[in-house]
Amino acid sequence: MKKRVLTTRENLPGRGLDRLSGAADVVAWPGTAKPGPADLAALASGVSGVLALGNDPVDGALMDAAGPSLRVISLASMGFDNVDRAAAAERGIVVTHTPRVLAETTADLTFTLILAARRRIGDAEANLAAGSWELFRMHDYLGLDIHGATLGLIGYGQIGHAVARRAHGFGMRVLHHDPYAPDDDLSVSVGLATLLAESDIVSLHVPLTEETRHLISARELAAMKPTATLVSTSRGGVVDEEALLHAVREGRLHSAGLDVFEREPMGTELSPLVAEPHVVTLPHIGSATEATRAAMVDLAVDNILDVLAERPARTPLPGSPAVPGTPAGTAGARA
Ligand code: DGY
Repeated sequence: MKKRVLTTRENLPGRGLDRLSGAADVVAWPGTAKPGPADLAALASGVSGVLALGNDPVDGALMDAAGPSLRVISLASMGFDNVDRAAAAERGIVVTHTPRVLAETTADLTFTLILAARRRIGDAEANLAAGSWELFRMHDYLGLDIHGATLGLIGYGQIGHAVARRAHGFGMRVLHHDPYAPDDDLSVSVGLATLLAESDIVSLHVPLTEETRHLISARELAAMKPTATLVSTSRGGVVDEEALLHAVREGRLHSAGLDVFEREPMGTELSPLVAEPHVVTLPHIGSATEATRAAMVDLAVDNILDVLAERPARTPLPGSPAVPGTPAGTAGARA
């Protein structure tokens, strides 16, 4: 008999869901708004796997609703703050995510935000479209240069490295702050205070955890240059948005480029950051290319199929076992 797998979307890019449906009975959340924890729990009874996206709530109640059959929670995302990892560990459930496959695409978008925020692309395009370009004036839309600037990366994993490689094409000096990453050919490791003081652009590449929540708040923003730009493609909760809003409104920070927010999705209740002229905002599209989103789904499906076939998961979260029921950190992670 086929095992049951819950997916939090009826449609996903690429052929991954077809492969999953060939091997398992797939039950999908049918809604068009973000599912709440109870919505997913109501569908979970007896499932062996859950395929969720980076924003979907995966908590202990869902795991209990699934029962002892649940062996794997597979995220089609790199970020994993939406999963109660302690609850999964207690129940011996494997939790996987999708590193590597999205690093280059997310680095491309990081650079899009850097360029757009420092060169005031949003204002310029909106004014052109509104019909207000009457005269070429030398002082309109003056931005700040990217070439030759210093880029500070907070978090220097796969995405941070991919951003650093691009920065060298722009002739930038690159610094990073990451306790796990020494100097390399691309970047110099520095303390957080040095990075904040010396960087023209600070870009965030850390997961959201208890340690990184509001890592950038009023104190860190005050330590940045008033000509600096803050960019985030990681998770909204890493930045204290209230403090950021004050800093840009008061001219203590030149600009910001944000793909992620503390509250997602926003619907019609927009964050005040969206209307700020010096803040470029996007609806969490860091990995949104056809090829990358399909690769994420494929990897997420492979992780489920491997665990259900009693093979180790390909890309378990750091600290998660690769095989159900084994103590955390003892099984062979290939991430
Ligand atoms: C990720 O992979 O974490 C992206 O932010 C999409 O959720």
